[in-house]
Amino acid sequence: MNKKINIIALSGSLRQDSYNTAAIKAVQEIAGEQYEIEIADISDFPLYNQELDGPNAPTQVQALAKKILAADAILFSTPEYNYSIPGVLKNAIDWLSTQPSQPFNGKPAAIISSSMGMLGGARAQYHLRQVMVFLNVHLINKPEIMIASAHEKFDESGALTDEVTKGLIGQMITALATMRSQLKTPQ
Ligand code: FNR
Repeated sequence: MNKKINIIALSGSLRQDSYNTAAIKAVQEIAGEQYEIEIADISDFPLYNQELDGPNAPTQVQALAKKILAADAILFSTPEYNYSIPGVLKNAIDWLSTQPSQPFNGKPAAIISSSMGMLGGARAQYHLRQVMVFLNVHLINKPEIMIASAHEKFDESGALTDEVTKGLIGQMITALATMRSQLKTPQ
């Protein structure tokens, strides 16, 4: 049997009923058995302080950095707060980026954003792309998944009901797997 493709997913929202975390759960469902998609817990990361960093960085930061380093790919799902990415997500990325071997370096990744607004978090998504340039992450370009009017696309239980979005998620998973195999192939 083939080894599962391991993806670490970071949600930019800590809210229990977050549409963005619900979007990751939809990816877990659509991706199926061949994938192992773990939702990272960044809820107990302290605010970044360089004085707390180094060999004694918080254990939860070190643990997630090691998981990302070992992962095949990364998935971000983020809301837009004030036209950008939430501080919670940026804080986690800042912590993780300073850990040994820079765990994001060279990883394939994809971004989803969800918002109750009309643009689906597009502006936040492009800010996150900019951050990923510095971290040398290989983001897939297409499909872009910006879930606008999110409150109309998930049901009460948090399940994704929108067929178009489900189709895009399927395409995203395929694009991420392709990016991963291209990066693994010696040029
Ligand atoms: C928002 N929201 C929001 N939406 C948007 O499309 N553009 C924006 O700039 C903002 N700004 C913003 C700031 C703050 C502080 C909050 C709390 C919210 C709305 C936000 O996208 C919406 O609440 C999402 O549903 C949040 O994502 P989760 O928690 O459902 O994943």
